[in-house]
Amino acid sequence: MKNSFIKDIAFYVPDEILTNDDLSKMMDTSDEWIKTRTGIEKRHTTGDTNMGPADLAVKASDQLLDKIGIDKSEIDFVVFATSTPDYYVPGSGALFQEKMGLENIGVLDIRQGCSGFTYALSVADKFIKTETYKNILVIGAEVQTTQLDYDDEGRGTAVLFGDGAAACLVAPTDEKRGILSAHLHSDGKYIDDLSSLYPSSKYKDIINEENIQKRQHHIYMNGREVFKHAVRRFKEVILEGLESNGLNVNDIDMVIPHQANFRITETVQKHLGVDQDKVFSNIHNYGNTTAASIGIALTEALDQKKIKKGDIVVLASFGAGFQWGSVVIKW
Ligand code: UT7
Repeated sequence: MKNSFIKDIAFYVPDEILTNDDLSKMMDTSDEWIKTRTGIEKRHTTGDTNMGPADLAVKASDQLLDKIGIDKSEIDFVVFATSTPDYYVPGSGALFQEKMGLENIGVLDIRQGCSGFTYALSVADKFIKTETYKNILVIGAEVQTTQLDYDDEGRGTAVLFGDGAAACLVAPTDEKRGILSAHLHSDGKYIDDLSSLYPSSKYKDIINEENIQKRQHHIYMNGREVFKHAVRRFKEVILEGLESNGLNVNDIDMVIPHQANFRITETVQKHLGVDQDKVFSNIHNYGNTTAASIGIALTEALDQKKIKKGDIVVLASFGAGFQWGSVVIKW
């Protein structure tokens, strides 16, 4: 059986920046509150450009293909993770395929929120190991800023999120390296602690004046509850991944956690008992880009030469659902 590995990765964020001071002009918040509670200093936004996740993904993928030096005709499958799809139906994969000019290959949409990238990588890994495909494009792309409530009522969530996309190529290798394991979990009990109700097929009349007044068309998050579960599940699923490979925390060279809140990342690092420089964070520049965040962080960690061939790298995610996961990689 072949092993599967991430051949390379790239990311794209839109040019426009929303600083904490910009947000302070829109709602009752402050640079100090946002920085202290989350570590975030700015985030990127598609603004008035009408760019959707598929557009951001095309930009990231073009860069990736240039970097690797392969033609798009060699891509034989796409796994596209987003929680903010361009259309309600179908998922963004089809739109991305059309925009990229990828002829009639299969695309699979993943809607696992902040865990989208780990779920997507896991699927790609299996398709490579079963020799179904040879060059799988795995995308995490998100446009959050068009659906947030930039008002006092939404300040607890609106300040957290940003837009962006990451694209990586998963391919086979005969070397003893690559994706060693993926562990995925879900606990639907907590679905209402982080959710967006519109558009919905459940209720006939959900889009009515009353619900709009109640602001139910924006994402709702019970921040404290999410925080509490996140710190526990991140640690648990990282250890689960390590143990399944006969590894322990001392073997970790780099953890790339989903970038939800610097305080979550810091707590997980302390609970794991690993050095600060072994847990990557770039949330100050991008905020939480949901399905894109791990890919953006992994690209920057590689660009900054924080990961070298042979390193044990652990990707870990937690988000809406609640759903969480880890992917252990020998780089
Ligand atoms: O990607 C996965 C999903 N997301 C996460 O993992 C996020 C998890 N949760 C969090 O990161 C944190 O819970 C938040 C950053 C969302 C909130 O931080 P917190 O320390 O849990 O604050 P809090 O919700 O307990 O609110 C503390 C105070 C409240 O005021 P009172 O009741 O103490 O008077 C809030 O109303 O801060 C107030 N507040 C704000 N103040 C200024 C909430 N949002 C803001 C804001 N600016 N943007």
